[in-house]
Amino acid sequence: MGDQRGFVVWLTGLSGAGKSTIAAGLAKELQSRGYPVEVLDGDEVRQRLSKGLGFSRADRNTNVERIAYVAKLLAKHGVVVITAAISPYREARERARHEIGDFVEVYVNCPLEVCAARDVKGLYKKAIAGEIPAFTGVSDPYEAPERPEITVFTDQETPAESVARIVQQLEAMHYIRGGGCRGGVSSSYAAVQARQRQASIETWPARSHRGRLLTLAEACCIMLES
Ligand code: ADX
Repeated sequence: MGDQRGFVVWLTGLSGAGKSTIAAGLAKELQSRGYPVEVLDGDEVRQRLSKGLGFSRADRNTNVERIAYVAKLLAKHGVVVITAAISPYREARERARHEIGDFVEVYVNCPLEVCAARDVKGLYKKAIAGEIPAFTGVSDPYEAPERPEITVFTDQETPAESVARIVQQLEAMHYIRGGGCRGGVSSSYAAVQARQRQASIETWPARSHRGRLLTLAEACCIMLES
């Protein structure tokens, strides 16, 4: 994959919306398709690259700038970078978009009540009790994206469904190739089936490949690739 074009999938959303889960699932899917992937997760970044930063507007934006900077460097070398940070301010995300260029903004949308009910880290309870100041969504703003490339609704979809929809979007934007021929019923196979129906072709002529008969799915893949 030496000619792989790097790009950045920027996940934004409230704490507990599911950014890290989706980042991990998406990374796994893209790695299985052979792409070099790196995840920059907010929690980890804050332990390392952004150690010492707080949650003021300025500090959050500095955090976003650092993530964008590293993401850009990695993408320049063909890496698919997935970032997962609240990144609550629109202007900071727009700056990241501008700096990176190949930038796919994913709004990980989940109602505040659902995030608070999940309370994976027990922070919402404390924030609501006033024990954590300036907590995003509770006592600090979250500016939802106005024109994200895709929005996933984690209160209505499973993580696998959200990942699949992001993958579809990346395929549609030609950042990645369709990977369906590697297993499962591929979208390209489905497209072939649809075309077959349209053309009223009732039987698929048997094709042979290197001396052996192919299954219908294999034949579809070879035809699409040729
Ligand atoms: S960002 O705003 O700078 O993008 P980031 O994603 O790195 O935030 O870190 C958010 C994580 O820090 C949350 O998931 C939560 O675990 C923790 N956290 C601690 N204090 C806060 C706070 N005041 N607001 C939001 N998250 C907080």
